Amino acid sequence: NDPVSIIGRKRDGGELSTAQIDAVVAGFTAGTVAPEQMSALAMAILWRGMSRREIADWTAAMIASGTRMDLSGLRRDGRALATVDKHSTGGVGDKITLPLTPLIASFGLAVPQLSGRGLGHTGGTLDKLEAIAGWSPQVSPDRLREQLSRVGAVICAASDDLAPADRKLYALRDVTGTVASIPMIAASIMSKKIAEGTGALVLDVKVGSGAFMTTYERAHELAATMVELGADAGVRTSALLTDMSAPLGRSAGNALEVAEAVEVLAGGGPADVVELTLALAREMLAAVGYEDVDPADHLADGSAMDTWRAMIAAQGGDPDAPLPRAHHSETVSAPESGFLTDLDALAVGQAAWELGAGRSTPGAAVSAGAGVTWHAGLGDRVVAGAPLLTLHADDAARFAAARGRLTDAFAVAAERPALPASRVLGR
Ligand code: URA
Repeated sequence: NDPVSIIGRKRDGGELSTAQIDAVVAGFTAGTVAPEQMSALAMAILWRGMSRREIADWTAAMIASGTRMDLSGLRRDGRALATVDKHSTGGVGDKITLPLTPLIASFGLAVPQLSGRGLGHTGGTLDKLEAIAGWSPQVSPDRLREQLSRVGAVICAASDDLAPADRKLYALRDVTGTVASIPMIAASIMSKKIAEGTGALVLDVKVGSGAFMTTYERAHELAATMVELGADAGVRTSALLTDMSAPLGRSAGNALEVAEAVEVLAGGGPADVVELTLALAREMLAAVGYEDVDPADHLADGSAMDTWRAMIAAQGGDPDAPLPRAHHSETVSAPESGFLTDLDALAVGQAAWELGAGRSTPGAAVSAGAGVTWHAGLGDRVVAGAPLLTLHADDAARFAAARGRLTDAFAVAAERPALPASRVLGR
């Protein structure tokens, strides 16, 4: 089971044994398998793929590299609390976790949303919430249980001990061109979600230019792989495939997206964000047997907003504090009159990143106010010369690069485009 033999076996198209997978994942975590060896293996896996059994073993080995949390036995007022979580494979303007977590918790459920930061063109939930004055992503395991029992909703950073092999491997894949492997993405996501201890899980698998999976077929394969991994581990798992060719909502950027999430919690907000929030909410509620309730009621009657405020306050945040705004803004005008037929998610995400909303190296600071807002969605009428996009940055020198990303990002045509009725493409 030495690393060189394991790499050679996968390079030549062989199947790795359970013992080989355990040895290489444990060795990499401990530092006895060198990063260059793991990089070579990751590239071999990307090309050769993995069997279902290998993916399950790889996931189990990554879970075993840290501690699997136990969230059973949570109670409120003497009643057992079911746990249910959601994971999105990542997109542009995807702020759904923000309204969805308190919305689900407002039904008397516990939502342990262990989230990450953005890297590259996709935003990170923790970066968004840090735009709120005082809010902290650090929650100890004891406090996590306490907050879940009392408030029901927690959005926080995963502890260092949650699937540490994945953290190390993800950083390596990110710089070795080996992210886009369905077995490795599935194992990466599911090892963290299974280790987190949730009883049920709904996956939002994104399809399109702004997503890891640009075709429906690959997104479907990823979704099916993850659903099976969840089921094997005793986590009730389902998946929706949703469109990420155009960005979600009307903004990409940290504070900008928090503001949009708060609009949704107040009963308003962009139609596509509301639609996806409710579609995922129905799936999560069904996963724990709450088929008879309508999540739209809790957006309308303020219950989800009350839980949001309690969740933010429990982590030191002031839900009433004004959100930071960028020092500078610039508009991009519509080149002609007509209907917006294209707004490319990847280009908008890259522009937001150029403006300072994201980071290019792990650990760098992000700008809370930076980002992009768009004043029309797909199919909306636009007027020549009127603002189509607004760019926000703390440093005006960033505008040129962002404009460069947006040159081919949108299209206007005389005819209203035929648009799919829903962001949800399949399941
Ligand atoms: N998100 C993850 O957590 N892991 C991947 O490999 C890809 C997306």
